[in-house]
Amino acid sequence: MTQKTVEEAINYRRSVRIYDPEKKIDSALVKKCIYQASLAPNSSNMQLWEFYHITSKETIQKIAPLCFNQNAARTAEELVVFVTRKDLWKKRKNSNLKMIDRIFPPKPKSQQSSREKVSRNYYGKLIPFAYSDFLGIFGFLKYLMILVIGLFKPIFREVRNSDMRIVAHKTCALAAENFMLSMAAEGYDTCPMEGSDTWRVKKVLNLPRGAEINMIVSCGIRKPEGVYGERFRIPFEEVYTEV
Ligand SMILES: Cc1cc2nc3c(=O)[nH]c(=O)nc-3n(C[C@H](O)[C@H](O)[C@H](O)COP(=O)(O)O)c2cc1C
Repeated sequence: MTQKTVEEAINYRRSVRIYDPEKKIDSALVKKCIYQASLAPNSSNMQLWEFYHITSKETIQKIAPLCFNQNAARTAEELVVFVTRKDLWKKRKNSNLKMIDRIFPPKPKSQQSSREKVSRNYYGKLIPFAYSDFLGIFGFLKYLMILVIGLFKPIFREVRNSDMRIVAHKTCALAAENFMLSMAAEGYDTCPMEGSDTWRVKKVLNLPRGAEINMIVSCGIRKPEGVYGERFRIPFEEVYTEV
């Protein structure tokens, strides 16, 4: 099958609630779409995400009830669980610093280009400042400090634990959209689901405490009745403003 263009894939993608059990999907192709998900833009290139590709029927049967037996989960051929891993920030920061070492072989600070200095400072100091917190106390102190500095100049304000959770979820949702559009380009269908008991899903997947479920995307090939009606959007002019 020829791949769809981006525009065609966007138009083809619908949230599909009933998949055709007669039409199988190729797990390798789904995996390729998950790889495309990992190429999504993401905050500070920290990649605080993980993707759990569930191909086993047994595990799907365990997870479907945790998605409250929604048709989209019950009839799915495969599931992909998008997970945020804010707790891995130190590891990801170190990966970025290693990447910087590869681009800029170590040399004395006086010989470093300004791009190198900015990059090292970003991952060496600013990222730890943004991500570190202790019981919300440091986060609150950072917030107060930023309130004061922010009176005098523009400043990045989202540095509390709750802000960094949003950052990780935003990023992960972009990956999920990359995935769903890649699937649509292949003629495969998906349904994003936030309706699930995330604690229990975490348990099934053996995820650590710091991991959070961003969304579960079910996969398969649509039955015509699996698309619940025409696509509805409020008039575009209501949400579009040219400034
Ligand atoms: C974050 C998120 C969570 C969603 N959760 C569910 C869900 O739990 N169950 C469901 O059937 N659809 C869910 N949806 C699908 C939306 O209902 C759907 O995208 C919306 O109605 C627009 O329809 P369309 O995707 O066909 O354009 C979710 C969508 C998003 C983006």
